[in-house]
Amino acid sequence: MSPDAGARTRYVGRRTERHARVTSTNDVARDLAAAGAPEGTAVVADEQTGGRGRLGRPWASPPGGLWLSLVLRPRLPAHEAPRLGLAVGVAVARAIERATGVAVRLKWPNDLMVGDRKVGGVLVEAPAEAGWAVAGIGVNANVSLEALPPEVRERATTLEAAAGRPVDRDALLGEIFAEVEKAYEVLRGDGFATILRWWRDRAASLGERVTVRVPGEVVAGVAEGIDEDGALLVRLDDGSVRRLLAGEIG
Ligand code: BTN
Repeated sequence: MSPDAGARTRYVGRRTERHARVTSTNDVARDLAAAGAPEGTAVVADEQTGGRGRLGRPWASPPGGLWLSLVLRPRLPAHEAPRLGLAVGVAVARAIERATGVAVRLKWPNDLMVGDRKVGGVLVEAPAEAGWAVAGIGVNANVSLEALPPEVRERATTLEAAAGRPVDRDALLGEIFAEVEKAYEVLRGDGFATILRWWRDRAASLGERVTVRVPGEVVAGVAEGIDEDGALLVRLDDGSVRRLLAGEIG
């Protein structure tokens, strides 16, 4: 990949570490963050051997994908931390569309969907009191579907499959840097209402009946919206509303 992907931004991706193979770019970025790396520092790898997804799941990261992590220092109170994941998710969806023309929708909280298949995801790790956050972004860009485990393959797709041709990962990386910087600036400027509007405009399942797996239970109802903390609001059959802070729409 060319070293110019960060040329259009003020700080996101200006400093980029590239690796052929790492366990997880989030781990490399975490160590850089803890050592004082400047905000916006990016870590990109061609392959991850221990990629992590949300909810403690592994994240298959074969060559051909775009696996990256960004060091951010958002200074958000703990209860507002989910806002960062929503902002990054919306930014990556916009970036994919700009770089490839493939339409992407968001499944709460930040699954990147092409139709009903997942093409990417976002994992924000922000230890309490650390003063930094790592935003991990995984996009099945030119990954071969055969390289994904069978249980992932049946619910996943790739940008190459969606676009009908391999996508330019450098161009995509440059758009991701630019869109994340834009969304992050909006977020820091107290513009979460704007992020929410962008997110809702791309929401995949709002207004639909959903089942949501949350730790220890499955919640069924109609997904009515997300609130100021990024929580999903589900209208249950008894008419009450459950507010879910973490989980996965099935
Ligand atoms: C999800 O479960 O949807 C989130 C997936 C996030 C994967 C990315 S790939 C780059 C970064 N490094 C990791 O180990 N995970 C994230």
